[in-house]
Amino acid sequence: MPRFAYVDGRYVPHDAASVHVEDRGYQFADGVYEVAAILGGRLIDQEPHLDRLERSLAALDIPMPRPRPVLAMLMRELIARNRVRDGLIYLQVTRGVAPRDHKFPTGIAPTLVMTTRRTDWLKQKRLSEGVKVITVPDLRWARCDIKTISLLPNCMGKTEAAAAGAYEAWQVDRDGFVTEGTSSNVWILTADNRLKTRALGPEILRGVTRDSLMRIAAEEGVSVVEEPFTVDEAKQAREAFVTSATSFVTPVVQVDDTVIGNGRPGSLTERLLRWYIDYCTGLRQEAG
Ligand SMILES: Cc1ncc(COP(=O)(O)O)c(C=O)c1O
Repeated sequence: MPRFAYVDGRYVPHDAASVHVEDRGYQFADGVYEVAAILGGRLIDQEPHLDRLERSLAALDIPMPRPRPVLAMLMRELIARNRVRDGLIYLQVTRGVAPRDHKFPTGIAPTLVMTTRRTDWLKQKRLSEGVKVITVPDLRWARCDIKTISLLPNCMGKTEAAAAGAYEAWQVDRDGFVTEGTSSNVWILTADNRLKTRALGPEILRGVTRDSLMRIAAEEGVSVVEEPFTVDEAKQAREAFVTSATSFVTPVVQVDDTVIGNGRPGSLTERLLRWYIDYCTGLRQEAG
C-alpha cells in the first residue's frame, strides 16, 4: 500500500516527498516538530501536542502554518489515507525557504511536513520487560523546552545508547543531575519511596506524556515530587521509567552497570503503565 506524506498542501507518495535545499530546517535546523502516538485509531493527546507546537513556534517567532482546526483536520486526513490504527504521526514546521542567511527572514511562509508510521506499540517487549539506559553528559543548548528539530546532541546520545545495548541515554547536567532522556522524560521511585521527576524549566522538554501521567497519578492518589535527582540517586532507586508519546511508560531496569530493584519492572511503574494505556485506549475516563 502506498504511504503518503503531506508536504505543504499536497499528499505525495512518501518516497517522492521532498523540500527545497534552502529550506531553513535543512540549513539551520530552524524549525520545530511534534510526535503523537496513535493507538486503536485514536490520536493520543492531540490538543496538548498542538498546544506545545504553538508554544514552540511562538518561542521562535514562526507563524502557525495553518489555523489550528485545519491542522487537526490535515492530521486526521493523513492518518486515514495511510490507514494507521497503531503508530505515530510526525509533524514538522520550519521557518520556510529563503536564501541562506543566519538572521530570521521575514515574509516567508513556513514549511509544513507530516508523515506517519505504523507500529504495534503494545506488543513491544520493552513495556513488559523494561530497558537499560546509559548516562551521558547533557551537551544541549539552554532552551530544551522548545521542541526544535535541532537534535544532534540527542542523536549522539541515542547512538551511544544503542552501541551500549541500551534503549535510551539519560542526559546529565554539569551539577550531576539527570535532566531527561534524549527523547523522553525520566522518573524514579527513590529508595525512600518518593516518585520524582525533574521540574519544568528550560532544561527539559515539557512532555505531553509527562503531563498526562501527572494528572493520572494525582487522580490515583500517587504524589509526584518535581525535583532533580543525581545519577547516584537513580542507581539506588527502587524503580525507574521513562515517558514519551512513543515510549508510553517504559520501565527502566538498568542504569549504566547498575541493576534497578530486582531487575524487573517495578510494581508502581507497572500500575502507571496500565493506567496510562487505559487512558489512551479510552478505558479510563478523560484525565483532567
Ligand atoms: C527531549 C525530549 N524530552 C521529552 C520527550 C517526551 O515528550 P512527549 O511525552 O511529549 O513525547 C521527548 C519526546 O520526543 C523529547 O524529545
